[in-house]
Amino acid sequence: MSPRRRVLYDEQEESGKDFMVMGWKSLDRSRLIINNCLLFPFIYCRPVEFSEVEYPEVENQRRPQFWDPIRLALFTLAIAAIIGIAIGIVTHFVVADDKSFYYLASFKVTNIKYKEKYGIRTSREFAERSHQIERMMSRIFRRFTRGHRFIKSHVVNLSPSEDGVNVLMVLMFRYPSTDNAERIKKRIEKLLYTSLNTNQLPLTINKQSFRITPLDSKKMRNLLNSRCGIRMTSSNMPLPASSSTERIMKGSKIAMEGEWPWQASLQLIGAGHQCGASLISNTWLLTAAHCFQRNKDPSQWIVTFGASVKPPAVKRSVGEIIIHENYHKDTNENDIALIQLTTQVEYSNIVQRVCLPDSSIKLPPKTSVFVTGFGSIVDDGPTQNKLRQARVETISNDVCNRKDVYDGMITSGMLCAGFMEGKVDACKGDSGGPLVYPDNRDIWYLVGIVSWGQSCGLPNKPGVYTRVAQYRDWIASKIGM
Ligand code: ARG
Repeated sequence: MSPRRRVLYDEQEESGKDFMVMGWKSLDRSRLIINNCLLFPFIYCRPVEFSEVEYPEVENQRRPQFWDPIRLALFTLAIAAIIGIAIGIVTHFVVADDKSFYYLASFKVTNIKYKEKYGIRTSREFAERSHQIERMMSRIFRRFTRGHRFIKSHVVNLSPSEDGVNVLMVLMFRYPSTDNAERIKKRIEKLLYTSLNTNQLPLTINKQSFRITPLDSKKMRNLLNSRCGIRMTSSNMPLPASSSTERIMKGSKIAMEGEWPWQASLQLIGAGHQCGASLISNTWLLTAAHCFQRNKDPSQWIVTFGASVKPPAVKRSVGEIIIHENYHKDTNENDIALIQLTTQVEYSNIVQRVCLPDSSIKLPPKTSVFVTGFGSIVDDGPTQNKLRQARVETISNDVCNRKDVYDGMITSGMLCAGFMEGKVDACKGDSGGPLVYPDNRDIWYLVGIVSWGQSCGLPNKPGVYTRVAQYRDWIASKIGM
């Protein structure tokens, strides 16, 4: 075929017709083909009339019409198909949004031995082993799904098997809502099997033992709700550790609903918010003993949950108050109390229990911990309707007992947290509330209860908290957990 050159010329000169035409003109003059098409208001083509003098060769040739009806129909069809595909792609990626898909996976790990402590979910042994398994899962799935499909895995149980440890875990993925759970399940199995064959994994997973079943979000929540210290957003996404550096005192950051789901407000009927408290089971809360100095009558107290005091997300009346028998108000020793609700709470994204730390938990100085509460933001100021949070750091009892700090007033049942330069601190009305610590799996532990401090946020006067790990036996003796 001869090379062709696109030409645009004014037909007026040749035929006296007053419209512009566009066509292809062969460089080989003897086989000249020109499309004579009117492009507006619709594509209309007709043969060109040429002067004999100029192009005598084409005189009797029936020029093939480019836009014959069949071509026009095919062309229209092709355009329609392209538009259709484009719409499909757009809806797939834009309109059909991603949805969470949950799976319960169980398998046997054969190169480790079961330990007694794996039976206690708040033990260091359980946390470390689970973390290792979760890291391995995320390595397998992040690589293969280029990071964005896999969200999280969470070990829910470790149990003994004759030749190793049985693992039960929840896997969370995000795929377009148009996808289906069984199809994704097949994909997950395939990914896992390939990496079991090709990867050097720290744990040996027995391939035959691997089972995976889709979970609906309700089943998934029930599974995780029986766990403590897990925060979820309303879309069931895990909430990562807060990085807030705002403070309760003089701060401005307000906590989101569901961010601190164990936080409760302890209120005296008619007098409003008095203290904070932390949910540790579906009927029990932990708070400070000094909150009941004015009134110990359970019928006068109510407990609310949610990120604001008014209106609360959930409200309960109090059935029983257990104050530590050795609480001393002059020394602030054993500033701890338990509250039992008259009716249990439903766990949800907004109401959740916090984990109690193992009595062996060690928090080195300068560990980041978080304190939350509805307390005042300036010394002697009013309490707040919206929940506030602050990141503080642990301070060793030795430093806290220094002459220029609290001069020997800190006992082994107390824990100091804040900053030596002051400013960020809990304050009045935060008492009884939680000081929490997230482990490397983002599981939150109640390490302290807001207890006392000299004024709020003063230099060298950090917040003093009841050291919860020290009271594990006392708590167990009262409520059996
Ligand atoms: N005792 C106070 C209360 O009743 C809490 C004090 C905490 N003070 C502090 N500076 N961290 O709310």
